[in-house]
Amino acid sequence: MKLILDLDTGIDDALALTYALGHPEAEVIGVTTTFGNETLEQATANTLDLLSLLKQEDIPVFEGAVFPWGTADYQTTDDLHRVHGFNGIGNVSLPKSKRTSESESAVDFFLRAAETYGNELKIVTAGPVTNLAEAIKKDAEVMNKVGRIVIMAGALTIPGNLSPFAEANIYNDPLAAEFVFTSGASFTMVGLDVTLQTMITQKDMEYWTTIQTEAAQDITEMTTYYYTNEYGGGEFGGALHDPLAVEVALNPEILTETLAINLTVETTGPSIGRTIGELARLNQPLKTAVVGLSVDSSQFLERFFTVTSQILANN
Ligand code: BDR
Ligand code: CA
Repeated sequence: MKLILDLDTGIDDALALTYALGHPEAEVIGVTTTFGNETLEQATANTLDLLSLLKQEDIPVFEGAVFPWGTADYQTTDDLHRVHGFNGIGNVSLPKSKRTSESESAVDFFLRAAETYGNELKIVTAGPVTNLAEAIKKDAEVMNKVGRIVIMAGALTIPGNLSPFAEANIYNDPLAAEFVFTSGASFTMVGLDVTLQTMITQKDMEYWTTIQTEAAQDITEMTTYYYTNEYGGGEFGGALHDPLAVEVALNPEILTETLAINLTVETTGPSIGRTIGELARLNQPLKTAVVGLSVDSSQFLERFFTVTSQILANN
């Protein structure tokens, strides 16, 4: 199936990209980038460098949003540096790609791909949903042709990670998220509710450490930084947020419990960035969101490490 990944290329984005590129059922037709874990410029550079590391230089990269809706500024924070390092990829220096991004924008690429591939196309967003919001705003009818939109963002039944209420990808652009959630577009939400059921530790990466390729070494180093820092290391480790969204796009049955609901996002006040059911659409029979509540994490983790080990060994 044709897949577009929309990334704010930090470490779990890098893992999502590695997983999708190695997955036999995924054909990554392009990667779009956004601010988020990093500035747009750094997220794009990380994406190009990762594609080069994994010898996938034919996959085009399209730049998207520089800033969240409603502002003309974006700064990364200490919280983001703690989880993803100062360069977004755990302070690992990858060999520099010689490529640049395409001149076409992320939004225009979404629309062109939606028109060309329709139902065959799946879009996975793994950063703030600003690019998706702009594409829906520009042409909702064309975006409606996309086969499935999977959004890694939000927390419905548990607390957030950037605030007690908000998950990072929502917190970083609540206005764009509110627009998408209330736009009428259908999507699957892969939020912290399920991604925190997919924690990894050093033990899970043991096999990677035996693979003697530069790709394996670099990905292992950045993932070690990530699992050590995201939730303080030790037993708890780091969550495969963005890779799980790729899995759900390819294999929605991995979610063992879901809730159909009409969602919105709080855009002001102390609970800014909270994902919650929208009262005004409570009694509408048509629900636009499917929210993941449980996941078969052992099946997913096994497939994730099998697929990534193969691609890392081949590069
Ligand atoms: C999400 O926020 C980012 O830090 C991660 O890359 C992931 O997309 C988790 O809340
Ligand atoms: Ca991300």
